[in-house]
Amino acid sequence: MGYKIALVGATGNVGREMLDILDERGFPADEVVALASRRSQGTEVSFGDRTLKVKALDSYDFTGTDICLMSAGGAISTEWSPKIAAQGCVVIDNSSAWRMDPNVPLIVPEVNADAVEDFRKRNIIANPNCSTAQLVVALKPLHDKARIKRCVVSTYQSVSGAGKDGMDELFTQTRAVFVSDPIEAEKFSKRIAFNAIPHIDVFLDDGFTKEEWKMTVETKKILDPKIKLVATCVRIPVFVSHAEAVNLEFEEEITADEAREILREAPGCLVVDKREDGGYVTPYEAAGDDATYISRIREDPTVENGLAMWVVSDNLRKGAALNAIQIAELLINRGLIENRAAA
Ligand SMILES: NC(=O)c1ccc[n+]([C@@H]2O[C@H](COP(=O)([O-])OP(=O)(O)OC[C@H]3O[C@@H](n4cnc5c(N)ncnc54)[C@H](OP(=O)(O)O)[C@@H]3O)[C@@H](O)[C@H]2O)c1
Repeated sequence: MGYKIALVGATGNVGREMLDILDERGFPADEVVALASRRSQGTEVSFGDRTLKVKALDSYDFTGTDICLMSAGGAISTEWSPKIAAQGCVVIDNSSAWRMDPNVPLIVPEVNADAVEDFRKRNIIANPNCSTAQLVVALKPLHDKARIKRCVVSTYQSVSGAGKDGMDELFTQTRAVFVSDPIEAEKFSKRIAFNAIPHIDVFLDDGFTKEEWKMTVETKKILDPKIKLVATCVRIPVFVSHAEAVNLEFEEEITADEAREILREAPGCLVVDKREDGGYVTPYEAAGDDATYISRIREDPTVENGLAMWVVSDNLRKGAALNAIQIAELLINRGLIENRAAA
């Protein structure tokens, strides 16, 4: 007998990707319930060769549901995830609301799968920020080999990271440029079409943005609190996939060749690194794939034991939907969750 899964945010960017991935992976679900706001009640979303009628979150009873994939933003998660968890349904939360709660495990299965065992404290498991998820997949195997001391990362983040409204804004502005219409910026703080904006999420008192802060604290929580990380997060006019230019300083010596070999064997990683035209992966090529691609691996001669590399992944997949579903599979494969209908 399969599990009963609810998906909050089923009409959103991440929610729709989750439905595709549940179907693609043959997730052991007997029933998948699509939930969103009252605005979407009665609309339909695709799930494999079927369609699901969307129900309203605020009138749904979670008592018979095993797992809730929560993907409707921080405010909805803050209010609803504890209520859903209190009904015995395990919540896998995509928002930033619960990530730094000490009683909530923050999980990337390739990196810290064992930490999931603690989830019963709140019955909530957090999914990291999209830029953190792909970064730690690439850092973990290198950290195991030579211990990362410091990481400097600059991101090139797609507009889908800002939800479906972000994608619509890039499309509308790009069209407006071509037909000489006035350009309006609503979702982003400046025009995003043919531009790059060094500002994602709100500014904090120390001058970093919250997106940059998330990368630092989440990497420490998932991988190692001793790693020093400084980030500059930039939104670029690409629809899907985030890219990251990463500079690493290690405690021990590690060559570019060694790093390449280690990453070739590492779970979730795919190395594409030929020193020739096109011998690297770009965001456009990574869209729709599950892998974290690593290219341009080279030694950084400006520091002792330094490496530089380029990391690209689909932010809606490894950065959100895929990682959440891998966490659900982890719970099932480790026997950590019971099928409530069968119990
Ligand atoms: N995009 C990424 O790369 C990424 C990566 C990691 C994490 N996340 C997180 O994933 C979450 C969803 O992101 P997204 O990109 O999918 O956003 P999105 O495209 O804007 O979709 C938002 C979803 O939330 C639903 N929603 C809004 N208000 C609701 C309410 N009151 N009750 C129930 N559902 C409500 C929307 O339903 P309606 O259609 O009915 O409004 C829609 O399904 C966010 O927490 C985001 O931070 C996103």
